[in-house]
Amino acid sequence: MSAVCIEHLSKIYTPREGLLQRLRNRGREPRGFQALDDVSLTIQPGEFFGLLGPNGAGKTTMISVLAGLSSATSGRVSVCGYDVSEQYAQARRSLGVVPQELVFDPFFTVRETLRIQSGYFGLRRNDDWIDEILANLGLADKADANMRALSGGMKRRVLVAQALVHRPPVIVLDEPTAGVDVDLRRSLWEFISALNKKGHTILLTTHYLEEAEALCGRIAMLKAGRIVALDTTAALVSRMGGADLEEAFVRIMRGDPMAERDAADPASANDQVLTEQT
Ligand SMILES: Nc1ncnc2c1ncn2[C@@H]1O[C@H](COP(=O)(O)OP(=O)(O)OP(=O)(O)O)[C@@H](O)[C@H]1O
Ligand SMILES: [Mg+2]
Repeated sequence: MSAVCIEHLSKIYTPREGLLQRLRNRGREPRGFQALDDVSLTIQPGEFFGLLGPNGAGKTTMISVLAGLSSATSGRVSVCGYDVSEQYAQARRSLGVVPQELVFDPFFTVRETLRIQSGYFGLRRNDDWIDEILANLGLADKADANMRALSGGMKRRVLVAQALVHRPPVIVLDEPTAGVDVDLRRSLWEFISALNKKGHTILLTTHYLEEAEALCGRIAMLKAGRIVALDTTAALVSRMGGADLEEAFVRIMRGDPMAERDAADPASANDQVLTEQT
């Protein structure tokens, strides 16, 4: 069974009901914005998978649908075999999401925040694991600090910790290293890589392409809501002349003819890689 299965996913953001009515009253037929356009993608258990794309490509939208925070306009999405809309609770439990935006309650301490998050998943007495996460993320000495007393990078560390409290089989990180210092970057990647080696599936979005190149076995590139490349990291790099992933990314986004030719059929690239793995 796949860790993440996305089939023909499209997402159109439509204006809110009130705005919709006002626009119609002015004789304008409001159009939605298509953030995802027929995206299909399968991630196997244990993969370290990268989702790359420029600002506005649709990465966070895809993750929001995966996490059940946003509904698909069409298509099907499942996590560990659970449909995110029909089997929401099981799908959500299978997933740990580190969101791109910093959202938290400023009045709780770090430990309280993690205990509350554990409570959402019905976990009591989770402190041994909470302590291990805090140690690995360099937060042990901040366990009793209020969230509002943390620096930006430390808040981001807590978001990572929050995503891990229920030991989810699939971990999704939406730009986890934005604004994070070199030290944490290293310890974060060591920790996440160790979880990946233990069998956790990782889905990472990042604008740091050298991070993606070092960590991800396979990569999908999104551009304006569509997948324009999907292959192993090594194949993407070598296909583009073998410089590095950043060069490959730039060429693919520019629509370099060489990139177009090889990335034209992402579905078959996907099948090919999956066949090689089995
Ligand atoms: N709630 C929303 N309502 C309307 N449009 C939205 C909404 N959320 C996102 N969009 C639009 O959908 C597109 C994709 O946004 P998304 O946040 O998924 O991009 P992204 O790939 O995560 O970009 P970034 O790298 O900047 O995080 C953008 O054009 C954005 O403006
Ligand atoms: Mg985003």
